[in-house]
Amino acid sequence: MDKLRFGYALTGSFCTFRESFKQIENLINSGADVYPIMSFNSSKTDTRFGKADDFIKKATELTGHNVIRTLTDAEPIGPKKMFDLLIVSPCTGNTLAKLAYGIYDTPVTLAVKSHLRNQRPVLIGVSTNDALSSSGKNIGTLLNYKNYYFIPMKQDDPEKKPFSVVCDFDKTYEAALLALNGKQIEPIIH
Ligand SMILES: Cc1cc2nc3c(=O)[nH]c(=O)nc-3n(C[C@H](O)[C@H](O)[C@H](O)COP(=O)(O)O)c2cc1C
Repeated sequence: MDKLRFGYALTGSFCTFRESFKQIENLINSGADVYPIMSFNSSKTDTRFGKADDFIKKATELTGHNVIRTLTDAEPIGPKKMFDLLIVSPCTGNTLAKLAYGIYDTPVTLAVKSHLRNQRPVLIGVSTNDALSSSGKNIGTLLNYKNYYFIPMKQDDPEKKPFSVVCDFDKTYEAALLALNGKQIEPIIH
């Protein structure tokens, strides 16, 4: 049987990169071929959570594929039907807004647009501390769009960050298999 081909896009929620890399490994260990994608900000910004070049190196070594991190890298994703499913996790408030409003000026948002032309599924893993404020409407918009699915999510610190929501990264593979069959994993919020 052919391997499943997953695009795995990282956007600038740097504090959750470690969780995402765990999921990339998990998908590979489950037999999938994983193609890493990074937004401009995630591939160029060094933070206290790590250096951009180290993350690029790690993603390349883990997956065996160069990181898609320019618009020209991302454009052929749809025409070449590169992925069965495209995962965007962590997905920032910024990227959620762009996807909700059709703005495709980063490798990740263009990857989504290019992939969606084939009516194939996109799986979003939200990680943003404005999910229950300004990003709320964008999450709602994407929930209502065809071919978008969500990794289950929860408030990560309701006392100190009452508007913050983070997905349950460990549910990525399960959510991906369901999304490939046109189904949303439930419950979305827990
Ligand atoms: C250290 C650090 C941590 C960040 N964490 C988050 C986060 O968890 N969620 C989020 O939506 N934005 C976060 N940001 C802000 C985004 O990186 C910023 O909005 C950026 O424009 C996102 O671009 P992208 O969506 O194209 O990757 C963080 C920024 C820094 C420097």
